Amino acid sequence: MKVCVLGAAGGIGQPLSLLLKLQLPAGSELSLYDVAPFTPGVAVDLSHIPTDVCVTGYVGDDAEAAMKDADIVVIPAGVPRKPGMTRDDLFNVNAGIVKKLIGTGAKVCPNACFAIVTNPVNSTVPIAAEVLNAAGVYDKRKLFGVTTLDVIRSITFVAQTAGKSVDEVKVDVIGGHSGVTILPLLSSVDGVNLSQSEIEALTPRIQEAGTEVVEAKAGAGSATLSMAQAAARFTMSLVSAMNGDSVTECCYVQVGDDTRAFHAQPVVLGKDGVESIPPLPALSDYEQQLLDEMRETLEGNINKGIEFAND
Ligand SMILES: NC(=O)c1ccc[n+]([C@@H]2O[C@H](COP(=O)([O-])OP(=O)(O)OC[C@H]3O[C@@H](n4cnc5c(N)ncnc54)[C@H](O)[C@@H]3O)[C@@H](O)[C@H]2O)c1
Repeated sequence: MKVCVLGAAGGIGQPLSLLLKLQLPAGSELSLYDVAPFTPGVAVDLSHIPTDVCVTGYVGDDAEAAMKDADIVVIPAGVPRKPGMTRDDLFNVNAGIVKKLIGTGAKVCPNACFAIVTNPVNSTVPIAAEVLNAAGVYDKRKLFGVTTLDVIRSITFVAQTAGKSVDEVKVDVIGGHSGVTILPLLSSVDGVNLSQSEIEALTPRIQEAGTEVVEAKAGAGSATLSMAQAAARFTMSLVSAMNGDSVTECCYVQVGDDTRAFHAQPVVLGKDGVESIPPLPALSDYEQQLLDEMRETLEGNINKGIEFAND
């Protein structure tokens, strides 16, 4: 298994690479790429940790060598938010970075699973789909927006509210990965009965949890450590699935045949990526209303990505 991290020297990339060095199966290769000149140093640093995962580091304008024949490519490359910015404000810089990196992937690892962390995920994933499609190598089963941070935040906040251990709590989050498009399904958490007023307090908190971190970091960036854990969890689920287990994770994928229909929801992963997408769980009236209200925003984000990719 070759796993490649693009943006590996960044705030997310470094702890993500550490977690993967510790968790990938013995015999795996962890390939790190970033435009930051010290990236080979990050690889050397990690290589001194005694696990049977071989770490290599690449820097420069071209990610080809790093990505060559990768099985999984995780992309946290790009600029993070500062206070007062929405994820959509990142579009101009990050859209170009994702377009270029996926273009390279289409050439040197067209069969890889691509997991995109770079925001705005609602738009960067459709960009990636268009680039892969134009190269004739798009497989909708193998392209993912990583929304796991919304899931792990929901678990933490629900467990705190309900007085449960986090190990007992499982929450599905659907929609997209930005503001109102983040919809945690809090009415159907197994073993937890939240009141409607608790749900109406927790839902906006989960939607704006990223902003909580951005403001607390006061200009130094957005969530990095929790995001690294979230991306590591998603990557390890992909690894398990590709090795034959059936694993369910919420993530942002193309649902159905319409190449504009991207949606986050529980997805069953298998050895070729998406194995199946079960129907959405039953929604409460409140959740259904939020889902209906977000559609226009989500469609706008998707169309913006598609237009950029084809410009
Ligand atoms: N999906 C999510 O839930 C989620 C959560 C938090 C942050 N993010 C996003 O992740 C991205 C990275 O955040 P961060 O805090 O790690 O930022 P960061 O600035 O600390 O790190 C980004 C890294 O990307 C590198 N980079 C820039 N352009 C590159 C290119 N063309 N090729 C390779 N590497 C390149 C930079 O050198 C840097 O090391 C941002 O877009 C951020 O908004 C997503």
